[in-house]
Formats: sequence, structure tokens, C-alpha cells
Amino acid sequence: MVNVQLVFFLITCLPFTVYSEGSVDYCYTLPACNASMWSTLSPKYCNGTRQSPINIVTADVKADINLTAFNFTGFNDSSHLINIENTGKSVKILSDALNIGVSGGGLQSQYNTTQLHFHWGNGSSINGSEHTVDGQQYAMEMHIVNSRADLNATAALSDSTGYAVLGFFIEATNDTGKPEVWKNLTSLLANITKEAASVDIKNQFTIDSLLQGVDRTKYYRYRGSLTTPTCNENVVWTVFKDTIKVSKNLIDLFSSTVHTNTTTDPFIITNYRPVQALNGRVVTSQPTTTAAPSTIPSSALHHTLSVSTALLCLALFRCFVSVSVCTAVKDLGVIINPSLFFEAHVNNITRITLFYLRNIAKIRNMMSLQDIEKLVFLLLLYLFVVWFLPVATSADSSKAWCYKFPLCDESTWSLIPKAYCNGSRQSPINIVTKCPG
Ligand SMILES: *[C@@H]1O[C@H](CO)[C@@H](O)[C@H](O)[C@H]1NC(C)=O
Ligand SMILES: *[C@@H]1O[C@H](CO)[C@@H](O)[C@H](O)[C@H]1NC(C)=O
Ligand SMILES: *[C@@H]1O[C@H](CO)[C@@H](O)[C@H](O)[C@H]1NC(C)=O
Ligand SMILES: *[C@@H]1O[C@H](CO)[C@@H](O)[C@H](O)[C@H]1NC(C)=O
Ligand SMILES: *[C@@H]1O[C@H](CO)[C@@H](O)[C@H](O)[C@H]1NC(C)=O
Ligand SMILES: *[C@@H]1O[C@H](CO)[C@@H](O)[C@H](O)[C@H]1NC(C)=O
Ligand SMILES: *[C@@H]1O[C@H](CO)[C@@H](O)[C@H](O)[C@H]1NC(C)=O
Ligand SMILES: *[C@@H]1O[C@H](CO)[C@@H](O)[C@H](O)[C@H]1NC(C)=O
Ligand SMILES: *[C@@H]1O[C@H](CO)[C@@H](O)[C@H](O)[C@H]1NC(C)=O
Ligand SMILES: *[C@@H]1O[C@H](CO)[C@@H](O)[C@H](O)[C@H]1NC(C)=O
Ligand SMILES: *[C@@H]1O[C@H](CO)[C@@H](O)[C@H](O)[C@H]1NC(C)=O
Ligand SMILES: *[C@@H]1O[C@H](CO)[C@@H](O)[C@H](O)[C@H]1NC(C)=O
Repeated sequence: MVNVQLVFFLITCLPFTVYSEGSVDYCYTLPACNASMWSTLSPKYCNGTRQSPINIVTADVKADINLTAFNFTGFNDSSHLINIENTGKSVKILSDALNIGVSGGGLQSQYNTTQLHFHWGNGSSINGSEHTVDGQQYAMEMHIVNSRADLNATAALSDSTGYAVLGFFIEATNDTGKPEVWKNLTSLLANITKEAASVDIKNQFTIDSLLQGVDRTKYYRYRGSLTTPTCNENVVWTVFKDTIKVSKNLIDLFSSTVHTNTTTDPFIITNYRPVQALNGRVVTSQPTTTAAPSTIPSSALHHTLSVSTALLCLALFRCFVSVSVCTAVKDLGVIINPSLFFEAHVNNITRITLFYLRNIAKIRNMMSLQDIEKLVFLLLLYLFVVWFLPVATSADSSKAWCYKFPLCDESTWSLIPKAYCNGSRQSPINIVTKCPG
């Protein structure tokens, strides 16, 4: 048994070439060389602490204003994609690195685009993206590999920013054969069923056309590694938030057309590496705001948030006692005259409410969900107060009392302005019938 396995391992894994990055023999599906074994097969980097892919936890993503738009060169030119090849591990599109490149996007250098390749699962049943977002894995992932323009191939592999890889999620759709450019591209898989087979694709595809539907200004950024041995930790990663939408039937062609070696060998399936530990790394993304809203001091925001709580108590109370206006809010430890209270805060409330309505998108990006909820609540409260306060302020203060409700029961009557409940000849009294002596 062991020997059979060993032979299978040698036959299936050893002769595979691994792009140009390394020469370690790895695989995806055999126990002897699958991703669990990479840190043994290639311990120098695969066992490192800034490995890729990762699960992106959106709640932990930090804003970085430096993550500006990219400058793509040659992405619109179909003469710069040269051929499509079965590598035995993946499907790779070779590009003319001297004429395609990327810069900007918070990258510190110019990068030349060397190749594109794909990671996939198995048919419709197993997703195969490498990165995940809040645990969600997509059907496929496309990587556009870019190497620092100022470093030779060897140096780029060992520099911590030697590569900039652009990752695109591919999401399966239910229609068939769409988009057409992906139909055309996947139709070529039938020409490269064997390992090392390749066909010319010059003047047929642009990278831009493969990326249709993706807003390339919205992305995650972190520092990681190659996702195949030797797992060099030289990659500035960009993972785009928008997905490329491709029909399920086209996605299925990847796992049912190209073989690991000859056509009698298995199909290439599940060629993705599982997510790796974050080890304290921070994932960043651009704030959706272009300029920090500076017109509202945060002190005013916070002040208003706490004031809104007070107003809530007041409003709830008013609901309970219907038309009565009780001016004492004992639970807050303060005595509040609603009209004075509201007048004092109306400017801040109005200002912040209107500001919020005008800048909803920007604020969403700079505030926590709880703060947003409070502000939404504040808006509702504001409307409530505006509708109900006129009634309240004109109401006779003699109605501002009740018997059972804690906020206006007998113990609060003496707090009612212009009331005499605090006086020295109040009724009723207890009539003591028993005469002295
Ligand atoms: C791949 O196929 C070729 C051609 O049949 C063969 O010579 C080679 O040994 C095969 N490699 C593996 C790993 O099976
Ligand atoms: C590798 O194979 C082992 C043994 O079958 C399995 O337990 C493990 O989950 C596999 N790891 C990956 C990443 O596929
Ligand atoms: C990988 O690193 C861990 C902890 O640093 C260590 O325990 C383990 O033995 C290493 N594995 C290999 C194959 O080097
Ligand atoms: C943005 O870039 C500047 C200059 O390189 C740097 O000082 C600053 O820390 C960066 N901001 C963030 C949020 O990383
Ligand atoms: C984009 O990159 C090209 C080639 O590197 C360069 O000529 C051009 O000036 C850049 N454009 C911007 C807006 O940075
Ligand atoms: C690609 O875009 C650049 C800049 O917008 C333009 O100069 C060039 O002509 C375009 N190339 C093609 C093949 O459309
Ligand atoms: C990257 O491309 C530029 C031309 O756009 C070329 O001058 C430079 O030598 C290339 N870098 C590498 C490492 O090939
Ligand atoms: C690559 O660049 C490094 C440093 O610039 C240099 O030492 C090395 O000789 C170069 N390698 C090749 C193959 O040109
Ligand atoms: C696609 O079809 C499946 C089953 O037929 C269904 O569960 C799923 O919701 C559909 N997806 C979309 C995006 O319509
Ligand atoms: C797809 O291929 C057909 C036939 O070669 C061609 O007419 C069509 O323009 C191509 N479409 C795209 C989007 O590349
Ligand atoms: C791909 O294979 C088909 C059918 O065998 C053939 O007609 C077509 O010319 C091939 N395409 C290329 C680019 O070689
Ligand atoms: C309105 O907000 C400012 C802070 O910008 C604060 O100083 C002021 O006290 C607030 N007004 C009231 C009535 O609380």
C-alpha cells in the first residue's frame, strides 16, 4: 500500500513545474503533497507568518486613505496577452510583461504584469477561491501577477514587495455562456487538456474585458505570500471587493476539461490553498469618503448621542401618559422642562440630523454600526419631538401628573413648575378623630 502511494506521489507530483517561482513538488489532492504538507515540503516560507490566502474579516478592516485608484497600462490592449497554458496545477495566461503593468493603488513602485492564472473548486459543488470574505468562499479566483519593474526575477522573489498580485473573485451565475468573453476564453480549455499544452491567444482578449463589472477602486490590501510553494513572502496583495460574474456552466469547464498531466490522469480540481493565519496582520481598504467630514466636531456628535438618550426617556414617557406632560424625569436625576430642553438642543439636533442625511455614505464609513443606529434613532426621535412637542408645550401643566406611573406619580408633583404641591397647607390630610386627653 505504502509503495503504491509513494509511486503515485512520485508520478503525480514530482515532475510538475511550479510557474517560475520555485521548484518544490507539491499538489492539491494527494495526502503526500497536498497543502497540509507544504510547510514540510517547503519549510523555508510555507511555514512563515505572513502567508496567503487569508480570510478577510470585514469588521476588522482598517481604512487607509493611501489606497487610491490604480493606473493600469496595457489592460485595454489585446496584443499583450500571448498564450494560455495548462501548467498541470492551473491554467495560466502568459502576458507581455514589458507592455502590461500596474502602478498607483497605494503601491510604492511600478509593476510589470507577468501572468494571470486561476484557482477553482470542483464543479458546482465545491467552491475554489483562495481568499474568503467573512468566511465566504467564491467559485473561483483569478490572480494577475505583477513583478516589480525595477527588480530582476530573482530579486523580486525575495523582496518583501517584489510582487503585487491582484485577486478577483469569480462568482457563479445561473445563466449560461455569459459573459461572452469568458465563453470564448473557456472554450480554449479544450485545446489545452494536457499538461504543458498551450494555445496562442494574441489579439483576442484584453484584461479589461475579463474584468467587466468590477469597480477597481474598491479593494482590500494586505501583505502576504505566494499561494503555492515556495510560498515566498514577497506579495503586496490586492483583493477586489466586486466579483466577476461568470456562468456556472463556464466555471464547470475548468474542473472538467484540463488534466494534471495526460488525458488519462485526473482533472485539475480544488487547486486552492486553504486560508492561513493572519498573525496580527491588518487588512486595509479605502474609506468611501473622499474627505473626512470636518464640519461636525465629534464632541458634538457624542453630546447629541447622549442627549438623544435623554430625549428617548422623555418621549417614551410621553407615550405612556398620553396627553399629560410630566416635567420631572426622575430616573435621569434631572428636572427637565421639555420645551426648554428641546430649545437648548434643537440647533445641535437639527444640524447633526441634516448633516447625517446629507452624508450618509461618508458617515457609514467612519462610524461604528452602533453609532449609526443611534443616529438613525435620533432622526426618528427628532421627528417624534417635532410632531409632539407643540402639543406638549401648550399643555396645561396641571395635567402633568399621574398616580401610578413612576415618573409622574405623587412623589414628583412638587417638582411641577408653578404648582403648589410643595406648599405648607396641602390636602388631603389624615383627620385624627381621637381627642387629646
Ligand atoms: C506525464 O505524461 C508524460 C507523457 O505521457 C509522461 O512521460 C510523464 O511521465 C507523465 N508524468 C506524470 C507525472 O505522470
Ligand atoms: C491533505 O490530506 C490529508 C490526508 O488525506 C487530509 O487530512 C488533509 O485535510 C488534506 N489537506 C488539504 C489542505 O487538502
Ligand atoms: C512550522 O512552524 C511551527 C511553529 O513555528 C513548528 O512547530 C513546526 O514544526 C514547523 N514545521 C515545519 C515543517 O517546519
Ligand atoms: C499613508 O501614507 C503616508 C506616507 O507614506 C504614511 O505616512 C501614512 O501612515 C499612510 N497612512 C496609512 C493609514 O497607512
Ligand atoms: C500610468 O502609467 C503609465 C505607464 O507607467 C504612465 O506613463 C502614466 O503617466 C501613468 N498615469 C498616471 C495617471 O499615473
Ligand atoms: C488604451 O488606453 C490608452 C490610454 O487611455 C490609450 O492611449 C490606448 O490607445 C488604448 N489602447 C487600445 C488598444 O485601445
Ligand atoms: C518592466 O517593464 C519596463 C518597460 O515597461 C522595462 O523597462 C523593465 O525593464 C521591466 N522590468 C523587468 C524586471 O522586466
Ligand atoms: C538580480 O539583481 C540582483 C540585485 O540587483 C543581482 O545581485 C543579481 O545578480 C541579479 N540576478 C540576475 C540573474 O541578473
Ligand atoms: C441559481 O439556481 C440555484 C438552484 O437552481 C438557486 O438555489 C440559486 O438561488 C440561483 N441563484 C441565483 C443567483 O439566481
Ligand atoms: C468571441 O468569439 C467570437 C468568435 O470568434 C467573436 O466573434 C466574438 O467577438 C468574441 N467575443 C468576445 C467578447 O471576445
Ligand atoms: C482549439 O481546438 C478546436 C477544436 O479542436 C480548433 O478548431 C481550434 O482551432 C483550436 N484553437 C486554437 C487556438 O488552437
Ligand atoms: C451643541 O454642541 C456643542 C459642541 O459642538 C456643545 O458645546 C454644546 O454644548 C451643544 N449644545 C447643547 C445645548 O448641548
